[in-house]
Amino acid sequence: MRKMRAQVGAAFHAEPKDLPEMQKPLLEYTTSEGNREDEGVNHQLELDSLFLGDSATVLKTLPPQSIDLVVTSPPYADNRKGPYQGWPIATYVDRFLPITKELKRVLKPSGSFILNIKERATDGERQTYVLELILALKKQGWLWTEEYVWCKSNSYPGKWPNRFRDSWERCLHFTLRKGFKMRQDSVMVPVGDWAKARLKNLSETDKSRDESKVGSGFGKNISNWIGREMVYPSNVLHLATECSNREHSAAFPVGLPEWFIKLLTDEGDVILDPFMGSGTSARAAINLKRHYVGVEMSPDYYQVSQAAITEARALAEETRRRRGHRRSREGNRGQPGEVPQAAPSSRSEAQGVYLLEEESIPV
Ligand SMILES: C[S@@+](CC[C@H](N)C(=O)[O-])C[C@H]1O[C@@H](n2cnc3c(N)ncnc32)[C@H](O)[C@@H]1O
Repeated sequence: MRKMRAQVGAAFHAEPKDLPEMQKPLLEYTTSEGNREDEGVNHQLELDSLFLGDSATVLKTLPPQSIDLVVTSPPYADNRKGPYQGWPIATYVDRFLPITKELKRVLKPSGSFILNIKERATDGERQTYVLELILALKKQGWLWTEEYVWCKSNSYPGKWPNRFRDSWERCLHFTLRKGFKMRQDSVMVPVGDWAKARLKNLSETDKSRDESKVGSGFGKNISNWIGREMVYPSNVLHLATECSNREHSAAFPVGLPEWFIKLLTDEGDVILDPFMGSGTSARAAINLKRHYVGVEMSPDYYQVSQAAITEARALAEETRRRRGHRRSREGNRGQPGEVPQAAPSSRSEAQGVYLLEEESIPV
């Protein structure tokens, strides 16, 4: 295996080969949780690294419990050749499991694994390898926590003899335990115009908790929404595809990993994409001040990723520099009546809480 590293923090549009090798930040930690043989062992992970190689091999070189979030879209299930090779449907699950075994090892106990995938339809029927993969992952010890839907808001119309165009993909959410890291407030959305009309004239039922008629234990209190500007989103994400100008036929939009990174990590956390493609997950991590680790098998896409990372770093640096200048200008001027923001009083206030499923409260 050849290991190459992305060059970061260097000039915009410069060729990677012309850039100086940067000193990489190191994550140093001790394995702590669970009844592990390596409990108490010290580890080091070189952050912001991109590896050229097969994930099945490269992931074995990463230390355990070092990753906060895995977000990825795996190879397609087909026999395509060229720079982007798919995996045959018949052996798809067998090929994936050694990789997810390593993902399980490198993920922190509080971490999450988001798998963006959609089963193909061939020979006139939907194939079942994604469903088989879910069952196999559960057997491997993962909890299948949730399924989000990525709805492709810009999909073109088309006609097939027995179905309609694919306009959505799964984003499967796996975790290692029920109490995983989740920052629900970071992905809140505006309540929307429906609330103005719905909340204007409330009935007596609307003013108290209305229990589910089917005895599910869930209920809602409509009056809870009065005065709320922001609410929690649903599990359907509406995002346009972005493959043009990305030099990769299967790139996901940067907003997709960004949404999960905001929801499932904090600033400074480490994001891993074992199938880096054109570098989208790394760009998302950089944009949100997280660290990334990535693996890509194709030398061509590895180069595409490197260039994307270099560009994202340069843009992020530039944005930070401009914000710094603006703040120092405003600071010098002094805003009339300006009150300094109080620092968060506790770690849980600053970082949100780990929600246990049993503790979640349906509104
Ligand atoms: C669906 S694409 C990922 C696209 C990526 N999400 C993006 O936005 O550009 C899957 C990528 O995995 C790479 N790949 C396939 N098998 C691999 C393996 N065993 N190890 C590492 N990368 C692999 C392919 O070359 C391809 O670029």
